Amino acid sequence: MKQELTGKRILIVGGARGIGADLAQRAAKAGAQVTVAARSGTEVRIDVTDEATIERAAASLDAFDHVVSTASAHHDVPVADLEAERIQAAFAAKVTGPLLLAKHFAPAMPEGGSFLFFSGIVGWRPKPGTVVKGTANAALAALVTHLSVELAPLRVNAIAPGITDSGTWDRLPDERRRALYDGAAAASLTGRVGTLDDVGEAALWLLGAGWVTGETVHVDGGSRHR
Ligand SMILES: NC(=O)c1ccc[n+]([C@@H]2O[C@H](COP(=O)([O-])OP(=O)(O)OC[C@H]3O[C@@H](n4cnc5c(N)ncnc54)[C@H](OP(=O)(O)O)[C@@H]3O)[C@@H](O)[C@H]2O)c1
Repeated sequence: MKQELTGKRILIVGGARGIGADLAQRAAKAGAQVTVAARSGTEVRIDVTDEATIERAAASLDAFDHVVSTASAHHDVPVADLEAERIQAAFAAKVTGPLLLAKHFAPAMPEGGSFLFFSGIVGWRPKPGTVVKGTANAALAALVTHLSVELAPLRVNAIAPGITDSGTWDRLPDERRRALYDGAAAASLTGRVGTLDDVGEAALWLLGAGWVTGETVHVDGGSRHR
């Protein structure tokens, strides 16, 4: 059953940029009341690696129907160069953070509520240099399954995007970004990288998909299959 988003209260952690900012606009257009949280520069401050910021936000704001997190922290290096603190930061963003969001926001979440987290293609495409990101993304897929059982009937889902032109890759020099996009397009079944439309429309659908829970939806142009 499709649940309307009109009038629903949605918290988007990581909503100040990239996929989160795009989803904030889309959800508002669909009639939702959107609150954006980020580590800085927004009215609501949440750093998912700092439980006190989550607890404060949950205690001071009205209940949310849906809580989304796009938080991620990268540590893409060969095994020989791994640093414990940066491994922990990557897991804090993708695993501990979502668990703590559930801990503090689920108790007040009304019937029909849901959590939506962001995993990623690397969890299903192992390659040297991405062991931390891959493992954290795969762990998040396990997390939504387990959490969906414990929090039922609240729903818990994830989206695992493939390489998406979300703005996040703009930090790369043009040549490296082009090479990344060309490689990702060639490695997909659809011959292109993802757009904000691809991911944002899937996220909106999942927020309203009343009979979908415990799932990771792969929005990756079939990249896992090649
Ligand atoms: N774009 C892609 O190609 C791609 C591919 C696979 C998976 N994904 C996943 O999709 C999600 C969104 O990607 P994106 O392209 O929009 O990336 P992005 O532009 O880097 O956005 C990441 C967001 O996470 C927030 N964030 C990071 N650490 C946080 C923390 N500790 N607490 C709260 N917020 C934190 C950032 O907010 P601040 O403003 O506070 O820094 C930012 O809004 C990520 O989880 C990413 O791993 C993306």
